[in-house]
Amino acid sequence: MDRIRQDIPILKETFDGNPLVYLDNAATTQKPRAVLDAMTRFYETDNANAHRGMHVLAERATIALEDSRRTVQTFLHAAHPEEIVFTKSCTESINLVARGLSQAWIDADAIILSILEHHSNIVPWLQVKEERGCDLLWIDIHDDGTLNMQGFEEVLRHGTVKLVAITAQSNVLGIRPPLKEMIQKAHAAGALVLVDAAQAMAHEKIDVTELDCDFLTFSGHKLYGPTGIGVLYGKRKLLETLPPLLGGGMMIGEVFTDRFTTADVPAKFEGGTQPLAEAVGLDAAIDWLTQFSWDDITKHESLLMKKAYDLLQKIPGLTILCPNPNPNPSPLLSFTIDGVHPHDLTEILGRKGICLRAGHHCTQPLHRRLGIPASTRLSVGIYNTTTELDLLAKELPEAVKRLQ
Ligand code: ALA
Repeated sequence: MDRIRQDIPILKETFDGNPLVYLDNAATTQKPRAVLDAMTRFYETDNANAHRGMHVLAERATIALEDSRRTVQTFLHAAHPEEIVFTKSCTESINLVARGLSQAWIDADAIILSILEHHSNIVPWLQVKEERGCDLLWIDIHDDGTLNMQGFEEVLRHGTVKLVAITAQSNVLGIRPPLKEMIQKAHAAGALVLVDAAQAMAHEKIDVTELDCDFLTFSGHKLYGPTGIGVLYGKRKLLETLPPLLGGGMMIGEVFTDRFTTADVPAKFEGGTQPLAEAVGLDAAIDWLTQFSWDDITKHESLLMKKAYDLLQKIPGLTILCPNPNPNPSPLLSFTIDGVHPHDLTEILGRKGICLRAGHHCTQPLHRRLGIPASTRLSVGIYNTTTELDLLAKELPEAVKRLQ
């Protein structure tokens, strides 16, 4: 653990003499030195535009971008590097699929979403609803936060469902829907499946070939990598039929004054100069993360979360939202405290160097469903320790006392 923590420069920060206790990893993760160094090295020694020159630096930049694509392909267990599209974020990846697929949809078509989704996997589909008139059909949750699978099967029977867009892990409740079962059922009903893996990606093995999902999206910055880069995985035959989101340089086959043709995948979706240093950073982040086994990551994060549950459950008036007792708890949980606004709580704790997230966590429909305007969220990463949770347990009751 000492070595892992030494890899992350920001963890040495102190605030008024208090150590940084960073428990907001679901919003973004902190970056290992290896990621920062790789990005700096790229600018210092390899910087040029990729796929746009014959000189030595252009060649290095191109190799760096394509190496990163192959690293992501291996990480996701995708069949071909062409199935990996770089975007600027998980949000852009979902928008690319929504805009592209919906061009062939009509108002009788439907999309299934779960009430667990965050806004990035809701608003693009609401835009499709506005533009094409398609129906959005929702899967609800049970009181323990698990998905209502019977409800899912009922909406699938609608018969006109084109796509199921589902999170791999809720960013509020930590719930992990049974993806494999849902994908099989969706395919049997003739629907495609997009998995939003923004939250799950840094915490569990994702194998797109085994899952058989049609699309999967995530962002670099929740995976110990930089902001400004996202990934869209898509089955090659589907990507080939999907129109591009952005028109511009390098996504073309030929351009005339009155028309253009598109390049092959994935270039078709990568119009404009790509986030090259960010691709290099993502490559380094995956290298850094994969030095640890998924078993070790899960064991460590589960241990932290069991301790977090134990400590929080002792605070009077504190309610953990949909606690889901599980031998492998998800790496995040959210809670409310009677008479305490999450913003005030996180502001007071923040002054002590303890970072939690407060608000609706970009999930207003889920918070409405839970009957609350906001909550406080604790989310761990690979570098967190039980000592940090002890510090939270010490400061939290004092903050609550001041606010109640
Ligand atoms: N979707 C991110 C979160 O849950 C930003 O915090």
